[in-house]
Amino acid sequence: MKLKLLFALLFATHIATASNIIPEPKSFKNESGHFTITPKTALVYNSAVREAATYLLEYIPFRQILSSNKTMPGDIFLTINDFWDEEEYRLTIDKNNIRIEGGGYGGVFNGIQTLLQMMPSEIYTRKCRLPIEVPFAEIHDAPKLSYRGFMLDVARTWIPTERVKRYIDLMAYHKLNKLHFHLTDDEGWRIELKSHPEFASIGGFRGGDSPVHPRYAKFDERWGGYYTQDELRDIVAYAAQRNIEVIPEIDMPGHSKALGAIHHDILCNFEPNTASTNGLDIRNVWCAAKESNYAIVEDIIKEMSGIFTSEYIHIGGDEVDMSQWRACPDCQRLKKEKGLTDEHQIEDYFISRVTNILTKYGKKPAVWHEAIEGGLLPTSTRVYGWKSIRHCKQSTERGYPTIVMPGEYFYLDMKQSDREEGHIWAAIIDTKRLHSFDLSNYGFSAAQSRNIAGIEASFFSELYIANRPESNDYLDYMLFPRLCAVSEIAWSNSRRSWSDFYTSLRTSHYDRMQAMGIAFRLSTPEVTYADGKLSASVDDSSTIYYIDERSGREVRYTKPLECITPEYIAFRSRYGSARSRLTGSAEYLRLLTPTVTITSSMPCSTKAPLTNPAKYTNSIARTTRAAKSGDWIEYRFAEPLSCREISVQTGHIHLRRCLFLKGYAEVSYDGNNFIRTGELIEGGAVIRPTAKVHAIRVVATTRSDAENNVVIGPLRIR
Ligand code: ACM
Ligand code: ZN
Repeated sequence: MKLKLLFALLFATHIATASNIIPEPKSFKNESGHFTITPKTALVYNSAVREAATYLLEYIPFRQILSSNKTMPGDIFLTINDFWDEEEYRLTIDKNNIRIEGGGYGGVFNGIQTLLQMMPSEIYTRKCRLPIEVPFAEIHDAPKLSYRGFMLDVARTWIPTERVKRYIDLMAYHKLNKLHFHLTDDEGWRIELKSHPEFASIGGFRGGDSPVHPRYAKFDERWGGYYTQDELRDIVAYAAQRNIEVIPEIDMPGHSKALGAIHHDILCNFEPNTASTNGLDIRNVWCAAKESNYAIVEDIIKEMSGIFTSEYIHIGGDEVDMSQWRACPDCQRLKKEKGLTDEHQIEDYFISRVTNILTKYGKKPAVWHEAIEGGLLPTSTRVYGWKSIRHCKQSTERGYPTIVMPGEYFYLDMKQSDREEGHIWAAIIDTKRLHSFDLSNYGFSAAQSRNIAGIEASFFSELYIANRPESNDYLDYMLFPRLCAVSEIAWSNSRRSWSDFYTSLRTSHYDRMQAMGIAFRLSTPEVTYADGKLSASVDDSSTIYYIDERSGREVRYTKPLECITPEYIAFRSRYGSARSRLTGSAEYLRLLTPTVTITSSMPCSTKAPLTNPAKYTNSIARTTRAAKSGDWIEYRFAEPLSCREISVQTGHIHLRRCLFLKGYAEVSYDGNNFIRTGELIEGGAVIRPTAKVHAIRVVATTRSDAENNVVIGPLRIR
């Protein structure tokens, strides 16, 4: 009863008030009463913000709209205040007018976003009809950081223009103002170049007959795409109207396998040893010593400078495999000639050459933090600190304007809980953890703090391609509401508690995100099993469903279930297009960990050997070469095993890499004879035994591609 009352109180606040705005404004005053937008209301705008007025018209169907510096009672007025910072704004809603005053275009646009959040959430459907009521308020607001970024990797997983624009819209609703557009990587080149059309027309596709080999999923097809220059210009303009600068990234000199696959001549001058890769050249680093490479880079940058209006172009610099430069006689000669002390300084040399080209075309360099390791780059370089806070501090200490984005908080390709899809190398990051990030906790000195240029979250898309990349669902689920928390961290000085932030999410922002069409992630239901009954609850207004795995049917949960087989019953909650992860009682979640011995036809690395596999959780064994047809991995149990299900997966646990491309699984119920249970799908299989299991085996029926090893992971047994 008490809980019910609490919820009634929570959800009674479901009216637009400034305290429910995300990100939280600097100062706001609520007043009683409301302004009504009717067919008679005119939208009056200063000519400098015409584009913002056009934008607002998409959401509110004004009948009258005009450019003027004068306003009448009853109007909505968008204007500029030259004395303020560019992104500062004041939104006043009183009985006479709605007035948005901004320091510049960005300020007016930010004020518009706050105004939209003051309206009924249907406003985001762009189908809201007049009249619309807006509560009286006065909000004076400005961002903490002028760089509030999001990086989208469209190289690993192709995302076409219209869908990129949708994410630009979603960023804009959250006052994020920089789209770091990761346009090239080992798996694809996405920018049309007139000077080198084959970069995109061939390098934009992987698999099938493409020289770029498939990775991560869709192993049997040619898959991909690229943006034409017109599309890129359209994206830049679309973003600019929404106060978002697009910062393109071409990732060099490493992460260039796609380009190397179509232009071997950009690679270093040595014969690679391809014994472990079934003959395939998987090098991915530009040779630093070839003059012809700098001519190609100039072709690229010349064209990009004509497309992108940003001050900076991001040129990568991360994770360069220095062994390729060490093996290259030309790079070694260069090192000697230029007096470079090590390979990091070869990277400095490469980046400096590229910087000179950027300067020629009026652009500045932005790089991942590894690029400053050589110690020679000038402090005009903008540095993106991704590995850790320590790297961010180093960069600010050395005087570089730094974008703070440590993976353990800001990499949105990380899992959100233990049992979901996602990477884990940095951390498991749920919205609460992300929201707890506070720059002031890390001891940045005043001087270092002055070099913090901004905050950015990123989404690298290696996993997306295996998760229905033609749909937004997986990406939406990974981004929201985590990106809402990023927005608040980057914008708000007076940070509210998790509890207050979560309340504004549940009571207001869930409905807004619903109207925005986002398939966001809900918090996970709590499930318990006691006295033969399964009970589930949620802390928001979502609806709970349960699924019996034996039938696959999803049924609405209304009251505790009488149940003797809780290990088969999964729960999830839904709220419109939003959903929680699947979960269940302890009985459902329990995994069996029998003693098992793993053997293989493939030799294993001494660094990641096939020893003590019972201890494998997230650690793995690794072979010293890719698979050939006939290779096998066997898992033999110390005691015959009773279980419902055994999942076996070749390749990295969270990533379809270093796996058996094709093959089958088999099971032995007597320890000698094996019965085939089915084909591997993306390197894995689920075996549902019909008797006690002595051993299982996976067998490759084709050679693997694009990798130089096979990863052997733990079984997942239920
Ligand atoms: C990165 O995650 N390699 C920037
Ligand atoms: Zn070289």
